This record gives sequence, structure tokens and C-alpha cells, in this order.
Amino acid sequence: VLTHAIIILLAYLIGSIPFALVIGKGFYKTDVRKHGSGNLGATNTFRTLGKKAGIIVLIGDIAKGSLAVCLPLMMNSHLHMLVPGFIAILGHSYPVFARFKGGKSVATAAGVFLAFSPLAFILGILAFLISLKISKYVSLSSPIGALVAFLTSIYVGDVVLMVFAAIIFVFITWKHIKNFKRIKLGTEPKVNF
Ligand code: G3P
Repeated sequence: VLTHAIIILLAYLIGSIPFALVIGKGFYKTDVRKHGSGNLGATNTFRTLGKKAGIIVLIGDIAKGSLAVCLPLMMNSHLHMLVPGFIAILGHSYPVFARFKGGKSVATAAGVFLAFSPLAFILGILAFLISLKISKYVSLSSPIGALVAFLTSIYVGDVVLMVFAAIIFVFITWKHIKNFKRIKLGTEPKVNF
């Protein structure tokens, strides 16, 4: 029980590391929460601080999810891997280090898929990129990526992964409600390639 509690706590603390805040404040003296969408994530870092900072935050946020899945190395049951992954996702969205106001957990969820089901990761990313190319909305492409990751989990046939992916899809979609409203109003920023 103690081991489980420690793993859960570690996963939450890892997920809580606000890379967008650390990189923004540390290297650019900028609080990304005061710019763009105000979201503490890689997309808003790209938007506010540019490509280099965005990529670093993206990699950091993905790594958090992957690391959390790898924490329970000794216990290779799927539940034991995905629960810390999910906790890291919650940590990213509700970080103890940033007054519980974090990001939308897209990159961290991608990191969990990367470590647990590379196929779901690759197909999810592919769907995200195709949607982004067509719509130019990151906020629309993120839930689409999560949906394809979920559909992939059905194909893979792993029940634990399926439940996890379904919860993630609902969670990520819910986190984007404000973005959807902006898309409807025509005020959501598009990405320029
Ligand atoms: O990953 C978050 C992205 O889908 C939307 O971010 O900053 O445009 O709200 P943002």
C-alpha cells in the first residue's frame, strides 16, 4: 500500500511540474498565463514565446506522462501503469506548484500513450496533425487526436487502455469547452504554417 501511495504521490508531483511557467519565467521573464489563451501549456508557450520555448515545454510535458507510466517498473500490470499516468495528467491540469491552475494535459496524455501504447500515440498524433493542417485550430485537433487514440485502443483490445483512453478523451474535450466557444465566435487564433 505504501509503495502505491508513494508512486501516486510521485506521479502527481511529476505531473505538477509547470514547464510552461518554469521556461517562461526562467528564460524569458514572461508569465505565459498573462498572454494568449492564458493556458499553462506548450501551445500557449509556442504562441507567446516562440518555437524554441514551445518545443522544450512540449518535450517536458510529454516526458512527464511517459515517466509516470514507467514509475511502477516492478509491477507490470496495465492498471498499475495507467493509474500513475492518469494522476500525472491530473497533476498537469491541477498543479500543486501553480495554485492548481495548469494546462489542458494534451501533451502529458500524449506522453502516457507514447510509453504505454506507441500505436495509439502515433495514430493520435497523425490525426492531430492532419486536423491541424486542415482546420488550423490546435484546440480542435487536440480532442480529435484523443478520440483517435481511444479508437486505436479499441482496435488494440486492451480493456484497461480502452477505459483510460475514453476518460482522457472526455477530460480533454471538456478542458477545451472555452476554445470551442471561441471557435464558434470566430475569435480562436489559428496556427500559421
Ligand atoms: O493543448 C492545448 C491546446 O489544445 C489548446 O491550447 O492555449 O490554444 O487554449 P490553447
